Amino acid sequence: MSADRIRNAALRAKIMTAREAAALIPKGSNVGMSGFTGAGYPKEVPLALAELMNEAHARGEIFRISVGTGASTAPELDGALAKVDGMEMRLPYQSDPTCRKRINAGEMDYLDIHLSHVAQFVWGGFLGKLDVAIVEVAGIREDGMLIPSSSVGNNKTWLDRADMVIIEVNSWQNSALEGMHDVYYGTQLPPFRKPIAILKPSDRIGETFLNCDPEKIIAVVETDKPDRNSAFSPPDENSRAIAHHIIEFFAHEVKMGRLPKDLLPLQSGVGNVANAVMDELQASPYNNLTAYTEVLQDGMFNLIRSGKMIFASGTALSLSPDAAHEFNRDAALYRDKIVLRPQEISNHPEVIRRLGVIAMNGLIEADIYGNVNSTHIVGSSIMNGIGGSGDFARNAWLSIFMTPSSAKNGAISCIVPMVTHVDHTEHDVQVVVTEQGLADLRGLSPKKRARTIIDNCAHPEFKPALNEYFERALKYSPGQHTPHILDEAFTFLPNWQANRKARDAWSEDGLVQADAWKT
Ligand code: COA
Repeated sequence: MSADRIRNAALRAKIMTAREAAALIPKGSNVGMSGFTGAGYPKEVPLALAELMNEAHARGEIFRISVGTGASTAPELDGALAKVDGMEMRLPYQSDPTCRKRINAGEMDYLDIHLSHVAQFVWGGFLGKLDVAIVEVAGIREDGMLIPSSSVGNNKTWLDRADMVIIEVNSWQNSALEGMHDVYYGTQLPPFRKPIAILKPSDRIGETFLNCDPEKIIAVVETDKPDRNSAFSPPDENSRAIAHHIIEFFAHEVKMGRLPKDLLPLQSGVGNVANAVMDELQASPYNNLTAYTEVLQDGMFNLIRSGKMIFASGTALSLSPDAAHEFNRDAALYRDKIVLRPQEISNHPEVIRRLGVIAMNGLIEADIYGNVNSTHIVGSSIMNGIGGSGDFARNAWLSIFMTPSSAKNGAISCIVPMVTHVDHTEHDVQVVVTEQGLADLRGLSPKKRARTIIDNCAHPEFKPALNEYFERALKYSPGQHTPHILDEAFTFLPNWQANRKARDAWSEDGLVQADAWKT
C-alpha cells in the first residue's frame, strides 16, 4: 500500500515496524495520541509499546508514560497500556474497564477535563512539555500533508506541539475521507483571539489536511486494522420512552415559537440512550435536521442516510462495525453531508452559543434541584469522565439531560436528594428527562424545580421517599432557598444499602455488576 497511501517519498523512507517505532519512545515521556471513541486511534504502536513495557517491567525496570488523546479509545490503546501498568497519567476522557479500575485503585492519575480545554491547556503549558505524538492518518499527500482519518480530536495540537512524531497510516480507513475534514489553524492564545467564523454547521473555515513539520516525523508505520467501536444495544422500552418525551417537548417548543420547525443543530452525547433518541427522530415529523456535535453515532448516521438530517459537524465517527461498513461503502457520498473538525472547534463554546445547539447528554444521577452527576459512582469512583458534556450544556440553547429513572435492575434511584458529585450545576441544566417524564426547569426557583423533578421524573418506587425527604427538608429549614437535611442528603435510605455495597464491589472488569447492587 505504501506508494498509494504514502505519496511523499521522504516520508516513505521512514517506514518501519511498530516495534521499532515504539522503541523510540522514551520512558516517562508525555505522549499525545490520536483517537476519539473507537475511531482514528493508533492501532499498532501502542500495542508494541505495551509489549516493550511488559518486558521492561519483567526486568525490574519502570516503563510508564503519560497519555493524552481526543477522548476514549479502544482495547488496543487504553486497554493494552493499562493492562501492563504502562500509564502514569491519562487525560482527558476514558471509558476502558482496566483504566477505570486502575484509576479507582489509585494506581494511575487521571485528569478529567472539558474536551474543548485540552488544546489551550497544552498551548498554555499547563500539562508540561509534549515529547511524542502518535497519530493515525488515512494517508500522506505528495507535499507531506497528512490526511486525517475517522476522528480529528486533538491531532492538530499534538502534531504542532510534540518534539517527535510517529505516524500510523491506516489503509482500512477509506481514501474517500480526503476532503471531509476542516482543520482550523487560526486559534490563538489570549489576548490575540479572533472570532471563530462558523455561522452554520456546514461552514468550512480551515484546511482539509493536518500540517506537520516533516523533520519531526521519526517513524511511519503501516496498518490495515479497523476502527473498533462497540455495537449499540437496540433501543429498549426506557430509551424509547425518553426519546418520545423529548420529541413531544420539541413539538411544544416549536408551537410556542421557541424552536424553528426544523429545530436547531443537535448535539447528542455518548451511549445507548443518546443513540436511541437519534433513532426515534427517524420517525418524527422533523426534516432538514442538522447537527453540531462531537460524535456521530449510528442513530445520527442513519438520519443522514435517510435524508432526515442534511448536515452533521463533529470530531469523530463513532460507528458500530455494521454502520462503519455502510459508511465505508459509500464514503464519497457523505463528503458534502459530514465535516470532522478538531475538538477545540467541534466543542467551542462560542460556536455552540451562536448556533443555539440543542444539547442532549446522559447522566448518572440528578438531584431534586437539578444538579447533575455524569461521572462518579457514589461520589468517589470515576465512571468515564465529563467529556464534552460541559462544553455543550452551559452554552446550548436547550440543555437536556436524560437517564432511566433507576439503575442496576431498579435498586438505585437516579433521582436523589443531593448528587454525590457535581459536573453540571443547576444553572446549566434546563431539562431532565427519564422514561417517567420530562421536567422543564427553565424559569423555576429551586423548590418548584424539586416538585417538578420528583413529580415528573422519579421512579414510582422512589417517589414517596423523595417526597418525604423534601417535605421534611422544608420543615427542617423553613423558608430557606434550597432546603436540605445535610445529615441525610447522601444517606437517602432507598439508595444507601445498595450504594454501600457498590462501593466495595468494583469487580475484576472495573464495572459494578448488577447483582452487587441488590441489598
Ligand atoms: N448509580 C450507579 N450506576 C449507574 C447509575 C447510578 N445512579 N446510573 C447509571 N449507572 C450505570 C448503569 O447501570 C450502566 O452500568 P453497566 O454498564 O454496568 O450496566 C452505566 O452506568 C451506563 O448507564 P446507561 O444507563 O447504560 O447510560 P449510558 O450508556 O447512556 O451512559 C453515562 C450514561 C452518564 C455513563 C454517559 O452518558 C457518560 O459517560 N456521560 C459523560 C460524558 C458525556 O456526556 N459525553 C458526551 C459529551 S458529547
